[in-house]
This record gives sequence, structure tokens and C-alpha cells, in this order.
Amino acid sequence: MEDLETLVERAGREFDQACDTPALENAKARYLGKGGALTALLKSLGRLPAEERKSAGQAINAAKARLEQALEARRAALAEAALNDRLAEEALDVTLPGRGRGGGGLHPMMRTWQRVEQIFRTVGFDVADGPEIETDWYNFTALNNPENHPARSMQDTFYVDLKDAQGLNLLLRTHTSPMQVRYARMHPPPIKVIAPGRTYRVDSDATHSPMFHQVEGLWIDEDISFADLKGVYTDFLHRFFETDALEVRFRPSFFPFTEPSAEIDMMFDSGPLKGRWLEISGSGQVHPNVVRNFGLDPERYIGFAFGSGLERLTMLRYGIDDLRLFFDGDLRFLRQFA
Ligand code: DAH
Repeated sequence: MEDLETLVERAGREFDQACDTPALENAKARYLGKGGALTALLKSLGRLPAEERKSAGQAINAAKARLEQALEARRAALAEAALNDRLAEEALDVTLPGRGRGGGGLHPMMRTWQRVEQIFRTVGFDVADGPEIETDWYNFTALNNPENHPARSMQDTFYVDLKDAQGLNLLLRTHTSPMQVRYARMHPPPIKVIAPGRTYRVDSDATHSPMFHQVEGLWIDEDISFADLKGVYTDFLHRFFETDALEVRFRPSFFPFTEPSAEIDMMFDSGPLKGRWLEISGSGQVHPNVVRNFGLDPERYIGFAFGSGLERLTMLRYGIDDLRLFFDGDLRFLRQFA
């Protein structure tokens, strides 16, 4: 029966070498299966003389029990290895720092927009919003810009190939000034409003973008003068740039919708732009024809208007030298304001 011993050893080795469950089950079949080596030995017991049969049977059964034990041990070992592999594969390092949300931020133009609203609200201005697709009448005619008048060519316009319900020509507003007329026709005096928003012109270079932003201002009552314009606008600039160390001048100019008209220039007393006059806004006393288009009597109502470029204000405030940076969407630029 010594070959029983060798058989057990060989089977034990084969079990241990089985590197996965199918290999182990094949090995098991070779020894313990129907046609297996140990099964064959058990079957051969019948051919032994009766006096040897008992002890041989005991020896084979003992061998079988050892093999089953070895098989179980190997099964358990393979199962544990498989579990460990899976755990390693699906491992989560709970100590890794999170990815975070990547905090967003306001575009610098929106910061200016909000800042301008905030400042004017504190001195009693309402804030109004209006259409970017405008009629020819509001954008030009109502603002004392008669059809075919050469002053219209001051603004290169995007026309829209449609007409409104009344058959009026449509265009992308070239300025926020039509909001003067829209607002004034809906609100009785005193009228004190700003209207920030997007505006459009056929223009594109380092200082012009086809889409840009303006803020319109309008204050109309029975006794609003140019002095009020100077006071309100100078105060606005001091607060917007957070300094009183800047000069403001009103330089005679022309706009069809104001008379007299002025260009507002400013100059910083210090900093990199010190000593240079910078054009910042158009302005003037609202023309009587425009006051009439407000639906008001120009003999009774008078006041001022201004229209300022929000890009210009933003560039001066943050020291930005190329307008196109606002529209490129480059995060290296935008993150500086977040
Ligand atoms: N709308 C003018 C422009 O875009 C700016 C302007 C000038 C607005 C004078 C005004 C004003 O309200 O009074 O060039």
C-alpha cells in the first residue's frame, strides 16, 4: 500500500499547484471522481483476499479523507486569493483629497454691470432693461436722428431682415439710448433711471467688439440741470474707481439727442494712467425733440442723459489693455476675477 502514500502526495501536490478553481476541480476528478485513481483503488478492494480487505479499505478511506481535506484547504485558499484580488482591484483610497467643485466666478463685465447698478441705485436711480432687437424708430428716429440724416452713419448697424408687428424695420440696437424713450413713455416724471445692457455695431478690432455693453442714464424733471449731470457723474466715477483722486471734464461734442452735448473725460491723479485724459462717456441735456417723443412737454420737463461703455470702465478699473480678452473665454484671464 505504499503507492497509496505516493498517490496521496502526488494528489496533494497537484491540488496545491492548481492555480484556479477549474484547474483544482480537474485535479479532484483525476483522484476522487468516478474514474479517479482513488476511486479505482476502492473498486479494486473486492478483488483482495478477505483478510486484507478490511485494513486496505481503512487505509484507502483514510487516504480519501486526507485528500478531501487537502482539496477543501486548497478551495478555501483559492477563494481567499480571488477575494483579495478583487478587493485590491476595487480599492478606494478614502484618504485622497476630494476633487472639489471648481468655484465659478462672475465675468469682469458682469462685475462692472452689477457695480454700476449698485452705485446708481444708492442715489435713487431705477434700473431698467429693454430689447436688444429694436425698431429703427426707437434706436434712431425718436432720438432726433431723422431718416437719411448723416448722423445715422456715426453708428454702423446690424439690420435684421424682419419687420415688427407694425411693419417697422428692426435692427440690433446700436446703443442703450432707445431705453430713454421706452422708459420715459411708460413712467411719469420724475424720471430717474439707468439702463445697462448689450449693444451691437459692425465693428471689430482691439478696441471694438461687434457686441459690447453700455449703460444709459436719464434724469428728467422740472429743474434738472447740467450741474446735476456733473455732480451725479463725478460722484459715480469716484465711487466706481474707489478714489477721489481723479479729474473729470466735460468737453463739447455732438449727439443728435442732446443739446448741448458733452463728452465726459476723466484723468487719474496717480497710477499707471496718471495724467492722461480718457474718454469715458457721451452725455448732454436731452434735446427738446426727444423730450417730446417721451410724450412730455419740453417747456416743462428738462434733464440730462448719458451713455457710457461698460467695457471701457472695466478695462480702466482692472488695467486690461485688450478688449478681446473679454470675449475669448480664456480661463487664465477670467480666473483673476473669480
Ligand atoms: N448713445 C451714444 C453712443 O452710443 C452715447 C450717448 C451720448 C448717450 C450722449 C447719451 C447721451 O445718453 O446723452 O455713442
